[in-house]
Amino acid sequence: MTVTQQAPAVEIQKVAARFRSKKRDVLALENVSMDVRPGEFVSIVGPSGCGKSTLLKLVSGLLKPSAGAVRLLGGPVGGPRKDVGYVFQRAALLEWRTARRNILLQAEMRGMPQKEAAARAAELIEMTGLQGFEDALPHELSGGMQQRVALCRALLHRPPVLLMDEPFGALDALTREQMNVELHRIWHETSTTVLLVTHSIAEAVYLGNRVVVMTPRPGTIAEVIDVELPRRRNYAATMSQPAFASATSHIRDLLGAATHRE
Ligand SMILES: Nc1ncnc2c1ncn2[C@@H]1O[C@H](COP(=O)(O)OP(=O)(O)OP(=O)(O)O)[C@@H](O)[C@H]1O
Ligand SMILES: [Mg+2]
Repeated sequence: MTVTQQAPAVEIQKVAARFRSKKRDVLALENVSMDVRPGEFVSIVGPSGCGKSTLLKLVSGLLKPSAGAVRLLGGPVGGPRKDVGYVFQRAALLEWRTARRNILLQAEMRGMPQKEAAARAAELIEMTGLQGFEDALPHELSGGMQQRVALCRALLHRPPVLLMDEPFGALDALTREQMNVELHRIWHETSTTVLLVTHSIAEAVYLGNRVVVMTPRPGTIAEVIDVELPRRRNYAATMSQPAFASATSHIRDLLGAATHRE
C-alpha cells in the first residue's frame, strides 16, 4: 500500500541568518532545519535574542537567509509573501480606524472583493467574540480585544500559514488563557498551519503538536518535542495530564540548561 505524503507546509533547510553592519556582526541563526506539516501547530521557545523572530521573518520572506533555504507550500519563499498571516507582539492597530476597519485593512491591502471581505470579517468577529465592538476604536478596546482584532486581521484572507510572534505577551494571565483557548479552537476549525513564538512554556505545550526548543544565540534547535496529547484539547483537562507535566518540565530543563550554560 502506498501512502501519499503531502508536501510540508514549511521547509527550513540548514538555514543561517547573519546581520552584518559596521558596528557588529551577529550570527542570529545557525544550521536550523525543520519541516512543518500542513495543519500542524508548532510552538517555538528559546532564550531572548536566539533568533525566533528572525526565523518567522525568514518564513514570511521579510528576510532572506544568509545560508540554506526556506520553502513555503512546496515552493521557494522568494520575497515577502502575501499568503501568510502574521500576528506581531503588539496588536499594531491603526488608532483612527474602528475594529472592523482595522480587520478590513488586510482586504484593502490585497484588493479582496469588498463583499467577500465583509462577510469573512463578520464571521471572524463572531468567532472571536468581538460582536458589539465592531465600531469601537482601539483605545476603547481591552488589550485582549485588540489582540483579537489583530488575529482577525491576520486570518481575513484565510492564510494557509499563520505566523505568530509572542502574540499574547502583553496580556494578563487570565486573558492570555482565554486567548489560548480561542486560538486552539480557531486552529481546530480552520486547520491552518501555525508557527507560534512564545515565552510561555505552558502556552507552547497546550497549543502545540510539537515544541521546538532553541539554544541561545546563535540559535540552533536544541530539541523538538512531540506533545503526546490529543489534537483537540480542553484547557483544564490538558493541564492535569501527565503528558502535559512531563513536556513542560522537560522544556523547562532544556531552557534552564541553556540559560546556565557558560
Ligand atoms: N534587522 C536586524 N539587524 C541587525 N540585527 C538584527 C536584526 N534583527 C535581529 N537582529 C539580531 O539578531 C539576533 C536575534 O534577534 P531576534 O529578534 O530574532 O531574537 P528573538 O529570539 O526573537 O528574541 P526575543 O525573544 O527577545 O524577541 C539579536 O541579536 C538581534 O540583535
Ligand atoms: Mg522576538
